[in-house]
Amino acid sequence: MPVSIRQIGTVFAGEVTGIDITKPVAPEDVAAIEAGMDRYAVLVFRDQRLTDEQQMAFSLNFGALENPRGGNITRMEDRRLAVGMNDVSNLDKEHKPLARDSRQRAFNLGNMLWHSDSSFRAVPSKYSLLSARGPTPKGADTEFADMRAAYVALDEEMKREIEDYVCEHSLMYSRGSLGFLDYTGEEKAMFKPVRQRLVRTHPVTGRKSLYLSSHAGTILGMPTPDARILLKDLTEHATQKEFVYVHKWRPHDLVMWDNRQTMHRGRRFDDTQPRDVRRTTVAGDAPTVAQAG
Ligand SMILES: [Fe+2]
Repeated sequence: MPVSIRQIGTVFAGEVTGIDITKPVAPEDVAAIEAGMDRYAVLVFRDQRLTDEQQMAFSLNFGALENPRGGNITRMEDRRLAVGMNDVSNLDKEHKPLARDSRQRAFNLGNMLWHSDSSFRAVPSKYSLLSARGPTPKGADTEFADMRAAYVALDEEMKREIEDYVCEHSLMYSRGSLGFLDYTGEEKAMFKPVRQRLVRTHPVTGRKSLYLSSHAGTILGMPTPDARILLKDLTEHATQKEFVYVHKWRPHDLVMWDNRQTMHRGRRFDDTQPRDVRRTTVAGDAPTVAQAG
């Protein structure tokens, strides 16, 4: 059966059928999925009982895996999953929900703010792939916003104003907005802000999108409070219902999204219940703008 994709969101997001991604995927199917990503920006694959190795192998069809260094405060010895896997669960290395006062848990709550994965890296990521390894707790949905549709809907004056704006992104900005302000010297160096264009152009389709993220904390040449008000306004605009697809997880779903043209956030849930979701991240290939000397 050939791969087929039908749109499931109002302005974007598609569901893929006719493929088993636990097995090696034929080049024509990889091409169909890439084309689907360019068009729908979020793709859902149902009933894929993946192991970590299979998830990494499938992800490698779309590029190299991103080096996870500098993306979290979790120490190597506290990691639950092997290198190559990003742990987006609420679990410790014994597979038990993290304690309420856990620093790792507090840091991970930042995933509930609208963001684009790795926008805090000078070369931000291309795709993220998130796999649910079983049932997820009630309400633990993931929401996606189409940043191309959000860009198109801006008025011309705003498009002109922001065309060449450059933001600074850091994990310290997103976590700081939650009151998470204590970092070691090593963490501060690791989370040093990077520059990103506010309007970026997709390398394949040429479509423009708003490159927003809770990691964005300043705009070059603008007082910080003005920058934050503008970023909040744009985020409010971009995450209106009409631009959003809400994913309600079923066991063994894999959801894949293009970080260059979407934002996403996790929703609040009872995190005394386990939520085992595992991410692989496909590296991007270029910065969006030159970095500071
Ligand atoms: Fe994320």
